[in-house]
Amino acid sequence: MDLDGSEQDPEVKEYSPVCVGREDDIKKSKRMTAVVHDREVVIFYHKGEYHAMDIRCYHSGGPLHLGEIEEFDGRPCIVCPWHKYKITLATGEGLYQSINPRDPSAKPEWCSKGVKQRIHTVTVDNGNIYVTLSKEPFKCDSDFYATGDFKVIQSSF
Ligand code: FES
Repeated sequence: MDLDGSEQDPEVKEYSPVCVGREDDIKKSKRMTAVVHDREVVIFYHKGEYHAMDIRCYHSGGPLHLGEIEEFDGRPCIVCPWHKYKITLATGEGLYQSINPRDPSAKPEWCSKGVKQRIHTVTVDNGNIYVTLSKEPFKCDSDFYATGDFKVIQSSF
């Protein structure tokens, strides 16, 4: 319920920005986790840019907040600590290397599986970090682990 006593549209509320912390803190820690409208996200600060995504890996629910950031094909990626899948920070694409089996001399090339991890919007206002959940209507693989029984990260990670 709003301050004026009226009910807020649940959809509007779900996509309103949520303050998750201070800019000074994430610049030191380089990453933070937060719950935004019942959805767990990880926020990275990498090379002067902020990136937010679902915290659990689209492949099998691995804890992306514990992964390392590496560059592949010039694109910063979070490498999932469970099975080493590579996910671009900017777009949530799954990257993989492929080679043409009919051309034994060919070098492996980086390819995209498409967007697999849902990316959310980060904004900064007056030193505060805000995350706004993605409203993109497509079905993203990471949605499976961001909802239902899987949505809570277990403390054993
Ligand atoms: S759970 Fe992330 S790569 Fe398998």
